[in-house]
Amino acid sequence: MRASSSSLLLLLFLPLVAAQTFHWGPCPTPKVQPNFDLRKYLGRWYEIEKLPASFEKGTCIEANYSLRKDGSIRVLNTQFYKGEVTAAEGTAVVPDLREPAKLGVSFSYLSPYGAYWVLTTDYSSLSVVYSCTDVLSIFHVDFAWILSRSRSPSPETVRFAKKLLTDEDIELCRMKPTNQTSCPVT
Ligand SMILES: *[C@@H]1O[C@H](CO)[C@@H](O)[C@H](O)[C@H]1NC(C)=O
Ligand SMILES: *[C@@H]1O[C@H](CO)[C@@H](O)[C@H](O)[C@H]1NC(C)=O
Repeated sequence: MRASSSSLLLLLFLPLVAAQTFHWGPCPTPKVQPNFDLRKYLGRWYEIEKLPASFEKGTCIEANYSLRKDGSIRVLNTQFYKGEVTAAEGTAVVPDLREPAKLGVSFSYLSPYGAYWVLTTDYSSLSVVYSCTDVLSIFHVDFAWILSRSRSPSPETVRFAKKLLTDEDIELCRMKPTNQTSCPVT
């Protein structure tokens, strides 16, 4: 593609990606958790850090993954914002059973499944999740989350998660901690 048309495309997409983290080139292909066991992954995870920090200033962000009666995976994200707990319900799928750690999550019938790749998890304390979307193979936008079973994991756990992301060439300069203090008791 000629340079002029790719810069035009970039201009067109810029409003979309300005709030996100965008990089030239296609998505990286990090290693994911081997033998990922969805059943052990279910339950509640607290968001400890996120890339990039959203402009929604919600605190106490957490997710609860559970199985619905029909076998689909329910995703319930909750946050505390302006004195209220708000929730968003979505669905997770495993598009390819040969790659069980590569899930997709959607929060509406209208939106496509976004990548939810579990790079590593021990199921009992830490999960490192990465999501990347290629835009016409010209650039990519990505998200990453450090999740924990506890609202205040050890600094070593968080350092381990960040090193893993950095080692996979995922840039963390826009990663921000999620406020998990003064949370409503649930
Ligand atoms: C997570 O969701 C399941 C299914 O709705 C529910 O039974 C469980 O109590 C929830 N767990 C937490 C920690 O909210
Ligand atoms: C976290 O949120 C609580 C309550 O919403 C607030 O009092 C506290 O100052 C926040 N902490 C930080 C580091 O922003």
